[in-house]
Amino acid sequence: MGKFQVITHPLIQHKLTILRQTSTGTKDFRELVNEIAMLMGYEVSRELPLEDLEIETPITKTVQKTLSGKKLAIVPILRAGIGMVDGILSLVPAAKVGHIGMYRDEETLQPVEYLVKLPEDIDQRQIFVVDPMLATGGSAILAIDSLKKRGASNIKFVCLVAAPEGVKALQEAHSDIDIYTAALDEKLNEHGYIVPGLGDAGDRLFGTK
Ligand code: PRP
Ligand code: URA
Repeated sequence: MGKFQVITHPLIQHKLTILRQTSTGTKDFRELVNEIAMLMGYEVSRELPLEDLEIETPITKTVQKTLSGKKLAIVPILRAGIGMVDGILSLVPAAKVGHIGMYRDEETLQPVEYLVKLPEDIDQRQIFVVDPMLATGGSAILAIDSLKKRGASNIKFVCLVAAPEGVKALQEAHSDIDIYTAALDEKLNEHGYIVPGLGDAGDRLFGTK
């Protein structure tokens, strides 16, 4: 079974509290999503592979560690996942970025895939799938199905707010992946929104409602 981790750093909790508030407007929402993603990226990247590099200090030649940075891909689930990309890229600028477009049918709550555009060598990369919300889990499950169909095997899912229902569904569907969240909330409401949650992440991020 993959890891499930709630990243409870005080800075993350503080920023998430601001993010949740209705009074937080689009500009601040966008900045906060990126800042939290960056702080989470620090923890999520803990196991990135290193390789040896021979360098010269002013004193001597030495072999030290460097990130084998070509091996990472960040894959946001559109739209809201886009909000987390720059924060993680600020830590690992050499990462490639793939996109998976998915929306939830508001009546059935079933995810519908409308775009998949990935780095060609996605099957050889460590992948961070990012989406602020893990609600029913449908979007994350389908996105990871899509990646696995294309040969990907080394996948971590990173979100900001998760519902217990979504965590359970994702773990059942993809028991091999690690899941990281900044908060594990109480439940889903009858419309599939996370309670207390933060509302519709895509709309708040892009100001569409
Ligand atoms: C939101 C969110 C997730 C999905 C989570 O996207 O960004 O992708 O819902 O819900 P689930 O776990 O029940 O699948 P939405 O469908 O609102 O699309 P958007 O990002 O384009 O607004
Ligand atoms: N998608 C969102 O954007 N918010 C939720 O609470 C659930 C799904």
